[in-house]
Amino acid sequence: MNSTESFRKALNQAHRVTVLTGAGVSAESGIPTFRGPGGLWRKYSAPDLANPAAWARNPGLVWEFYNYRRRTMIDKQPNPGHKALAELEARMIAAGRVFTLLTQNIDDLHLTAGSKNVVRLHGSIWQVRCTRCGLVTDNRDIPITPAFADRDGADPSLDDPRYATKDLPTCYQSNCSGVLRPNVVWFTEPLEWTNMEKALSAIRCDLFLVVGTSAVVYPAAGFVPGAKDSGAKVAEINLEPTPMSDICDWQFHGPAGEWLPKILG
Ligand code: OAD
Repeated sequence: MNSTESFRKALNQAHRVTVLTGAGVSAESGIPTFRGPGGLWRKYSAPDLANPAAWARNPGLVWEFYNYRRRTMIDKQPNPGHKALAELEARMIAAGRVFTLLTQNIDDLHLTAGSKNVVRLHGSIWQVRCTRCGLVTDNRDIPITPAFADRDGADPSLDDPRYATKDLPTCYQSNCSGVLRPNVVWFTEPLEWTNMEKALSAIRCDLFLVVGTSAVVYPAAGFVPGAKDSGAKVAEINLEPTPMSDICDWQFHGPAGEWLPKILG
């Protein structure tokens, strides 16, 4: 039996399947990953842009980065990898089995593809949260406010844009004028506790798939050994090996948009 056949046998026998995805699953849709060739963190500095200290220092620069990322994501569509995961979920639910998709991605592509039981570990780029009252609202505005209309990505090494508070988006509640931030999880911030609970429950499964993540950002990376320790078989789909490859029962090296339809369909 080759590895694809043995994987498919395990998939057919699994009652509970959990999948962890990262930026690689959306790469074939045209959304850049963070690390590796062409990765966002090569051009932009994470400490300057995706943490609470950066926000405290210069919220306009942080918004400029997210405004740019929104612009790069708005027209992107799910690829065959997203669709294969949604189809697997539909088949499993129809058969009375349990499927959970844990994603680190802040794009909407799993949902657009039809996935239902999705835990968005790092939030959504299409939501904003009031820094004063905490209200979370859907928001697809591009630019996020008119002040960001002519800005093309935040590169702190090139300039140091200063925005007035009036340039930043503000809360929609009439009695609150708090500044809105992207409803995403930044470095040093904890995951939402309900998401953490769902993830910790979901890693107790029969089969765990790790797709398109460099598996270096915690706590998500820790879900891989967590699943293994709880008795799950683990399969990795990635262009290249990761720090988790050694504990995987199967490794499928290549694009997720090609491997997922092949091994899940
Ligand atoms: P990374 O950019 O760190 O890793 C992307 C992974 O996808 C790499 O291991 C690539 O080899 C792989 N990859 C690229 N294209 C692929 C393809 N077509 N098919 C399969 N694999 C492919 O992205 P993440 O692991 O998602 O967090 O990064 C985790 C977190 O770090 C992100 O959620 C973000 C980032 O900093 C925050 O911003 C808090």
